[in-house]
Amino acid sequence: MKLLLKGGRVIDPTQQIDEITDILIVDGRIAALGRELDKQAESGTAARVIDATSKIVVPGLVDIHVHLREPGFEYKETIASGSEAAAAGGFTSIACMPNSKPINDNRSVTEYILRKAALCGLVRVYPIAAVSKGSDGSVLAEYGDLWEAGAVAFSDDGKAVTNSALMLGAMEYAASYGLPVISHCEDTNLSAGTVINEGLASAETGLGGGPSIAEDIMVARDILIAEYTGQAVHIAHVSTAGSVRLIREAKSRGVRVTAETAPHYFTLTDDAVRGFDSNARVNPPLRSPGDVTAIKEGLRDGTIDAIATDHAPHGITDKEVEFEAAASGISGLETSLGLSLRLVDDGTLTLSQLIDCMTGKPSRILNLPGGTLKVGAAADLTVIDLNLPWTVDPANFRSKGRNTPFRGWDLRGKAIMTILGGEIKWAENS
Ligand code: DOR
Repeated sequence: MKLLLKGGRVIDPTQQIDEITDILIVDGRIAALGRELDKQAESGTAARVIDATSKIVVPGLVDIHVHLREPGFEYKETIASGSEAAAAGGFTSIACMPNSKPINDNRSVTEYILRKAALCGLVRVYPIAAVSKGSDGSVLAEYGDLWEAGAVAFSDDGKAVTNSALMLGAMEYAASYGLPVISHCEDTNLSAGTVINEGLASAETGLGGGPSIAEDIMVARDILIAEYTGQAVHIAHVSTAGSVRLIREAKSRGVRVTAETAPHYFTLTDDAVRGFDSNARVNPPLRSPGDVTAIKEGLRDGTIDAIATDHAPHGITDKEVEFEAAASGISGLETSLGLSLRLVDDGTLTLSQLIDCMTGKPSRILNLPGGTLKVGAAADLTVIDLNLPWTVDPANFRSKGRNTPFRGWDLRGKAIMTILGGEIKWAENS
């Protein structure tokens, strides 16, 4: 099987490539990059040619924070529907959080996820296992077993690990398998009873507002534990200026801390909850304009390494209730690229920096093989039309989760083809 992508603007930050060139794929791997590949493409079995003129060709997008909901909450999402949503959003690799039912705290759940994902075969799915048994924060899960089964990191995401001794043990135990711990940073005493950020919006709406330091305090703690143990910690869904400042300072001292944010944290403020739209309820909550500015600055100077979606699909019955009773989360896989491209339009990032935040950098955080177009690598690629205008309509989502505060938004730029291991898995209008 051969595929020749011709005439696209190829951007691969792992090789400092940003130029118009062709890519030859043979037997599922990148065989060559260059302008004179026609002969090679035609020898033996002729390659299928894809005209990528005026399009962008990048490594397949990588999302290291996704909730797939299976097993247990299949009405919200399945591994199949989540994989479809990922492919339609331009992703070829996703890592899924363990807060399913049962929780992914043992090898049979990890193996189940991998088996189901392989059966559907649309994207590479990497399971993240729980830090603690049942994610209840008391006893560490069996990391050796989970690592052997294919877990790529440990996290109790959705819940904070409040016990510092357990977190210290988690970082050391995970490190013995070369895996990072991903921390959901929330001081649950400070956030108890709150549903949005503390600020003008909480004062005006009367919705319970939680202070941003609920996040900062746990970021500070995890940085201290990472520094003390010398091990790696990855901070999930960074939403506050305080977190950005703490991570920046820790990185400058050589602490092994990495961080991600999600599109809603650099696109929306807590203004979005003023109309009581439960689709804007998310944890951590949407913050202030100052926090948004700091998140963008963190992305620009590399303090925040990656953009992840925190794709959190929910059913209508979870969301169409009073704000306080609604589940937290945004269905993000199919809007992530369109929203993130706005960072290029407003001058926060160059296109190459943005692609790095969505490919190479997240891959390195979880030691995943993707995120590169190096010769010999698996041929996972995304073709993007930067100029394609489109309107967010959740009715068109492949995800079962239609919960988005971006309904009706006009965006520009979309993945139009997703290729996994040399096979076209998704194409716009196909
Ligand atoms: O808003 C959120 N939803 N934040 C989380 O940390 C968990 C997620 C979920 O699982 O729905």
